[in-house]
Amino acid sequence: MDKSVFALEDVYFSYLGKFPALCGITMQVQKGSRVAVIGANGTGKSTLLSLLDGLSFPDRGTLYAFGEQLSERMAGDDDFWRLFRRKVGFVFQNPDIQLFCPSVREDIVFGPLQMGVSPAEINKRLESLCAVFGIAGLLERQPHQLSIGEKKKVAIASVLAIEPEVLLLDEPTAGLDPQTSREIVDILFKEHEKGTTIVTATHDLHIIEEIADAVHVIGGQKRIIRSGPAEQVLADQAFLQENNLIHTHSHRHKDTVHTHPHTHCDHHQPR
Ligand SMILES: Nc1ncnc2c1ncn2[C@@H]1O[C@H](COP(=O)(O)OP(=O)(O)O)[C@@H](O)[C@H]1O
Ligand SMILES: [Mg+2]
Repeated sequence: MDKSVFALEDVYFSYLGKFPALCGITMQVQKGSRVAVIGANGTGKSTLLSLLDGLSFPDRGTLYAFGEQLSERMAGDDDFWRLFRRKVGFVFQNPDIQLFCPSVREDIVFGPLQMGVSPAEINKRLESLCAVFGIAGLLERQPHQLSIGEKKKVAIASVLAIEPEVLLLDEPTAGLDPQTSREIVDILFKEHEKGTTIVTATHDLHIIEEIADAVHVIGGQKRIIRSGPAEQVLADQAFLQENNLIHTHSHRHKDTVHTHPHTHCDHHQPR
C-alpha cells in the first residue's frame, strides 16, 4: 500500500441527512506530512476532522485510513478501533469537551492508562509533557480552574500522552494570546520533526506557514476549491479575500478612515 494515512474520494456528509457539511471532498494526507485545512466558518473543517477521526462516516464517497475503508460497516470492529485510537489523536476546538477528569494530572494520564501503558512509562511521558508545556504547576488543579490558554495546552498534552502517529487539531490557536499561540506552534513543529503526521483545521492564517506544508482551502460550497503549498495559497490575496479568509480592515486616524486588506503577512513585512 502507498504511504497515505488518509485518502478521501468525493466524500459527502450531511447532519441528520439534511444539513450538508461536506460536498465532494477529495484529498490525501501522506505519512509524516503537515496539512492545513482552511476555510471560513461553516465550511466543514470540523466535520472533516471528525470523519478523519472515525467519529462519523461519509454518506457517499470513500474515506480510507491506513489503507482501510472507514464506513458504518467498520463500526463494530473493536480490534480496528483499538489500534486506530492508539494511532490517531484528536484535539477538539473546545478544551472543555476534552478535559473531563477531576484533575489535570488524571486528564493527561487517562489515555495511556486506558491503553495499558506501564506506570513507569506513563510517569516518564507525564514529566516530559510537563517540561514541554510548562504545566508542572497545574497538575493538581481541576480543569475548570485553568485559563483558556492553559486548558488548551493541557488538552494538547493529554492527546500527545498517547504518542499518536497522527494528530488532528481543530483551531488549536483560536482565541489564544500571541505568546501562547507561539508556544503551541513551536510544540507542533517539534512534534512533526519526530515524524508525526499533523492535520490542522484553522482560519488563523498567521500560523499556517509554520504548521503546514500543504494547504487545502474549503469554500462556501463545502468542497475544496484550492490546494497547494502554503506559501503559494497564502500569496493570493484576492482569492483569500473572496473566500472570507482575510477581510478589508477599516480604522480611523483622527478624521480619516483608512481601508486596506488585513493580511497574514503584515507581521513579517520588512519595515
Ligand atoms: N450538529 C450539527 N447539526 C447540524 N448541522 C451542523 C452540525 N454541526 C455542523 N453543522 C453544519 O455543517 C456545516 C459545517 O460545519 P463545521 O464543520 O462546524 O464547519 P467549520 O468547522 O468549518 O466552521 C455548517 O453548515 C454547519 O451549520
Ligand atoms: Mg470548526
